[in-house]
Amino acid sequence: MTQAQAIENKTILITGATDGLGKKVALDLAFRKARVILHGRSPQKGRAAAEEIRDASGNPEISYYNADCSSLDEVRALAGYIRANENRLDVLINNAGIGPGPAGAVREKSRDGHELRFAVNYLAAFLLTHRLLPLLRDSAPSRIVNVASAGQQSIDFDDVMLENGYDGLRAYRQSKLAMILFTFDLARQLKDSEITVNCLHPATLMPTNMVLETDYFSGSMDPVDQGADAVEYLAASAELQNVTGAYFNGKVRAEPMAQAHNTQARQKLWELSCELTRPDDPA
Ligand SMILES: NC(=O)c1ccc[n+]([C@@H]2O[C@H](COP(=O)([O-])OP(=O)(O)OC[C@H]3O[C@@H](n4cnc5c(N)ncnc54)[C@H](OP(=O)(O)O)[C@@H]3O)[C@@H](O)[C@H]2O)c1
Repeated sequence: MTQAQAIENKTILITGATDGLGKKVALDLAFRKARVILHGRSPQKGRAAAEEIRDASGNPEISYYNADCSSLDEVRALAGYIRANENRLDVLINNAGIGPGPAGAVREKSRDGHELRFAVNYLAAFLLTHRLLPLLRDSAPSRIVNVASAGQQSIDFDDVMLENGYDGLRAYRQSKLAMILFTFDLARQLKDSEITVNCLHPATLMPTNMVLETDYFSGSMDPVDQGADAVEYLAASAELQNVTGAYFNGKVRAEPMAQAHNTQARQKLWELSCELTRPDDPA
């Protein structure tokens, strides 16, 4: 089966699909006849993106859900709406994120009082994934794709919320390594299910808003198309149907920072994430 056939009629949710990489993935999947569920944080931008993708692809099966990932209540509600309205979910792509921001910027907090990049880039995906697991289980074989980054920094469990010596790049990199630790642990927990969980560095310095608005890097390198191609490979490639718990650099299997293989660190992060997001609380 080709990748295009593997995508046709599949229901695929992409978080952060109103711009950049997520929007390009959504457009490609729409052309390949998937049922595409876009997510974003701005209703106007989200509705416009859905309309643009519907018009460009001729695919009417494009929907949009709104939730600000800096609020765990909104993420919980998002999962509830999706479970109430969608019959199935074949692929969940956790892509929404914010970049390092301008150098020297001050530490920001989420609506729940957590360090903002840890909250938006990681905790939101942790909670959303848990709340959507029943739908993914019912739709199995299904896949979870976590968009991480090659930019990684070990998590300091004495200061996860970066209250001391805050730096935007450190915040971004810590949140991206957290996605990888989460991927490895969830894959282990789901090993007897037909749900695979993988993560990737999509491409390097694609010219998206998060890259263009930071002065930590200068210029861009890889086109957005390249990152989108890698995300779609993890989402639908037949070669990966039995691959789980892996980290990819683009479409190539790679090794993340050592902390991702540290089972104690993973357990600490898992426990902290459960404490902060309460994934099993009734809706
Ligand atoms: N660009 C790169 O070179 C690169 C490299 C490695 C990894 N990545 C990863 O790729 C993913 C996509 O990033 P991008 O480069 O495409 O950046 P982007 O163009 O800035 O897109 C980010 C997406 O996330 C959404 N988002 C941001 N904050 C949100 C919030 N609080 N709630 C809900 N949605 C929110 C944005 O919504 P708005 O449209 O409202 O802003 C947008 O749709 C990220 O996870 C990033 O870490 C990117």
